[in-house]
Amino acid sequence: MVYLKEIQPMRRSFTAASPINETPIQLFKVFVAPDAAEQTSKTLTSGYITQGPRVAELEEKLGEYLQNPYVLTLNSATSGLHLALHMLKSPAGAWPGLAPGDEVLTPALTCTATNWPILANGLRPKWVDVDPKTANISLEDLKYKLSPTTKVLQFVLWGGSPVDLDAIKDVQQFAYERFGFRPVIIEDAAHAMGAEWKGRRIGALENGNIVVFSLQAIKHLTTGDGGLLLLPDKNLYTRGKLLRWYGIDRDKRNYKGKDFRLESDVTEYGFKMHMNDLAASLGLANLPHIDGIVAKHRANASFYDKALAGVNGVTLLTQPEGAVSSYWIYTFHIANKLEFIEFMKNKNVVVSQVHARNDTHSVCAPYRTHLPQLDRTETTLICIPVGWWITPSEREYVADSIKEFASTLPVPRSIARKKIIITGGCGFIGHHVVEHLAKTTDCNLVVIDKLSYASLGYDRLRDTGVLDRVKVFTTDLVQPIPEGIAYELGNNIEFIVHMAAETHVDNSIADPVPFIRNNVESTISLLEYTRGLIRNGCDLKAFFYFSTDEVFGPAFGTTMFDEWDRHKPTNPYSSSKSAAENICIAYENTYKIPLMIVNVMNAFGERQHPEKFIPKCIKKVIDNEKVFIHSYPDRKMSGTRFYIHARNIAAAVVFLLNEGAIGEKYNITGESEVSNLELAHFIADTAKKTLVYEMVNHHATRPGHDLRYGLSGEKMAKMGWVPPFGFEESLRKCIQWTIANSHWLNLKMWADDPNTYEGIVPSAIGKDPMMERAAKL
Ligand SMILES: Cc1ncc(COP(=O)(O)O)c(C=O)c1O
Repeated sequence: MVYLKEIQPMRRSFTAASPINETPIQLFKVFVAPDAAEQTSKTLTSGYITQGPRVAELEEKLGEYLQNPYVLTLNSATSGLHLALHMLKSPAGAWPGLAPGDEVLTPALTCTATNWPILANGLRPKWVDVDPKTANISLEDLKYKLSPTTKVLQFVLWGGSPVDLDAIKDVQQFAYERFGFRPVIIEDAAHAMGAEWKGRRIGALENGNIVVFSLQAIKHLTTGDGGLLLLPDKNLYTRGKLLRWYGIDRDKRNYKGKDFRLESDVTEYGFKMHMNDLAASLGLANLPHIDGIVAKHRANASFYDKALAGVNGVTLLTQPEGAVSSYWIYTFHIANKLEFIEFMKNKNVVVSQVHARNDTHSVCAPYRTHLPQLDRTETTLICIPVGWWITPSEREYVADSIKEFASTLPVPRSIARKKIIITGGCGFIGHHVVEHLAKTTDCNLVVIDKLSYASLGYDRLRDTGVLDRVKVFTTDLVQPIPEGIAYELGNNIEFIVHMAAETHVDNSIADPVPFIRNNVESTISLLEYTRGLIRNGCDLKAFFYFSTDEVFGPAFGTTMFDEWDRHKPTNPYSSSKSAAENICIAYENTYKIPLMIVNVMNAFGERQHPEKFIPKCIKKVIDNEKVFIHSYPDRKMSGTRFYIHARNIAAAVVFLLNEGAIGEKYNITGESEVSNLELAHFIADTAKKTLVYEMVNHHATRPGHDLRYGLSGEKMAKMGWVPPFGFEESLRKCIQWTIANSHWLNLKMWADDPNTYEGIVPSAIGKDPMMERAAKL
């Protein structure tokens, strides 16, 4: 048995499932090694605390750790980024240098430290949108944003997670081929100490990029404040070493061989960005712990990866293959983020987005651009405590709290699992079924509709407000489903509800061949498509064929047909449906298509085509016109129908998709039998009008119209089916709605024959009035 998941009502109670943690679980903590005080005090008392031997020692050790000898310690990562861009201003070899106004492609979602050095250097930040899957830059957008003035590709490793460095190189190569030079790559690895790309450390010389790390207080490795600039070649390194300290070579101060404090000639001015020995000694004390620290961050992240996988409302980030994150922070997407922050505050767990987007700051106004992915990402991105200080019980508590919050979220439609294809979903009954499914389930709804005259374009779906919930493909099913549509539909389909059909009896009588062909051939091509799906391993749960009570032919007296009674169709329409039903059965038997068939009685409801009896009668009644009633030859007794509101049919479809058995047929019946005259009176009473009518022996002039159909509803009733909407109530509401929305009654071009209450003008039969109208425009 297969179950459609009904959307659960939101639960909004935030009662704690687990006890509230007493002390806050922090997002960040400063790591200070146990012997750090001893080491730094040695420096303090050494009489030399500015840049000296401890800095040199730290640089050497970090060079080993980061697999790059060209390491410059600095007072911050911000300085590193500033210095890197500053150095790039000068041309060197094939490098054209940076001119004022040159572009740096850069993320907006990062610390301001990533981008302010661009401004400080007189360059232009050009924002690259975020990839919501990684929180890093979108590589597609990076490529898209390249221009002849793009000189630098800069990006952050969000939370310590590497960007696909191979893909970045491809973009760099693409820029080279396009614009004749290679933009420089700058990695802002402030969060990424210990992260790896394809077995190499981020920062490794072999990666060939300029890389900056932060050693600020709350980073994996801290010197209190500090940063590292790793360079890809000796020239840049040597120059950087000078420029971090005014452009002076500290080791060669000895003016004219006499004065040890005075510098030799300065050829290029520099800055005061160096690190001091005091900071370096703290770094040296902490460095031996770095592997353990990173390992703890990773272990906690891996715990969250497992604990939060598949949690409703939570979307985890992914890493490109080859990337090993250092997890400075653990980031994911959560629905209702602001409520989540509040919720976690009550749980005593500190959470935050950590960095605001930079592009919306006033200082960046000249560079503003549309970043649609960031607009969305901002609403969901959140970081939770993951660091070395988080104990196993704390991470469990954090994960449980997240799950507790998630249990209050509605099942989002984006993760709807069951895909249902509904053919003819823009039509009258079809759109009620689609509306019902859209409003009561979390299914992934796909409509295939040829948008013929009967569909009214998307108007019906639009009017119900569910159009944006549905994917619609337009194709005429008489042709095989185009490969591109089949590709888009994919193989992961649970149900096919085949409702598309020509249904107008008068049309079928006036020009039977195209009519019958349409209904039979469209069913065959859908069956063939389904056969292909199953051949390709699709786990289809049901192919649901939507048929009519008319296939059984007229039900004389009080006859009520059971599901498997013989067909005796009396007009081309009903025979086409009967033929299609039987072809479905043949495919079920021969190709194991999981078939279910329903035979449905007369539907009514909002937005019904005005050619049909109920809307037509409403229109005539409110316009004070005469209503013609089909009658038996004596013109005393009118024909009868079992009417059922289309929303009841929709509910029955959902009921059967859940409860019905494959290989079975089911009658979806109206609640009670009503004569057309009674119905016309009911309409007039509801509209507060007097009914003017005439009985017509329509049958005599139009063989093929049956005066009574009858289906037994026993089988579904025994299964527990009860229509959710009562007949009289739903009819009254439908009449009132139709009067209030009378534009649905005035679709004139198809319903202008004053002599019949049913049927479009015969001259239009076989043609598509929509097309004709379009041709006249
Ligand atoms: C992404 C990013 N870049 C750069 C920096 C600047 O680091 P620093 O404080 O060492 O200058 C930070 C600081 O946290 C950061 O998060």
